[in-house]
Amino acid sequence: MADSRTPLISGNWKMHHNHFEAIQCVQKLGYLLKDLLREEPPSVVVSVHPPFTDIRSVQTTIESDRIALALGAQNCHPDEKGAFTGEVSATMLAKLNVDYVIVGHSERRELFGETDEFVNAKVHAVLKAEMTPILCVGETLAEREEGRTGDKVAGQVRAGLKGLKAEQVGELVIAYEPIWAIGTGKTATTEDAQSVCGEHVRAVVAAEFGDEAAATVRVQYGGSVKPGNIAELMAQPDIDGALVGGASLDPDDFAAIARYQEQ
Ligand code: 13P
Repeated sequence: MADSRTPLISGNWKMHHNHFEAIQCVQKLGYLLKDLLREEPPSVVVSVHPPFTDIRSVQTTIESDRIALALGAQNCHPDEKGAFTGEVSATMLAKLNVDYVIVGHSERRELFGETDEFVNAKVHAVLKAEMTPILCVGETLAEREEGRTGDKVAGQVRAGLKGLKAEQVGELVIAYEPIWAIGTGKTATTEDAQSVCGEHVRAVVAAEFGDEAAATVRVQYGGSVKPGNIAELMAQPDIDGALVGGASLDPDDFAAIARYQEQ
């Protein structure tokens, strides 16, 4: 069993890879990461988050080929079922052995108008379906330049976790993704990433839910993570993992990121 702060490296594929490409990608990852994924206890957990149309194919591939990748999704709807055209519920994902569900990604908040309340409802739904939410938070460039990073991130953390018990918070994942660093090639400096993850994520969890929850909640950094910057980010005391976009589409790059401990 992985302990609750075992590093978590997650690949958010966004709207890339059809199900044929997805199968090839996880098979190659399985080959490249074979020894790493079989370690007991694991030194790292690696999850992939394909588009919905790929999830069943990826599930059957990793189960039949015994690839120890964790299966993730990029989103869900908070209700179990109903007249919500085009949506997929957390319970449907749980049936496919999904472990981790990304919730409140900045692209969903900005492009699809998701509010803090809606994101919070999804966090509850994912936990109820016995999966782990990856709650995304992060500031825009304008907010950073106006000195509002701390308020924005802390506010999203508080709102996203509203109504949860301390034990639940201790088991989930919060991903700090500065919006200006997503897909831009710009990474937050390691010091900035550490200070936001420590002071505005973990410290807020401690203040709201207690030291025990803060000690076990996993905090990921996301935004232009690459093989060349992962080791330095992971060396920070409050960074327990990475949420990787572009670089997760290439199995060689993603495997190199997952193997950051060997650098
Ligand atoms: P990039 O790694 O492409 O910057 O994307 C980060 C991200 O949004 C992961 O969720």
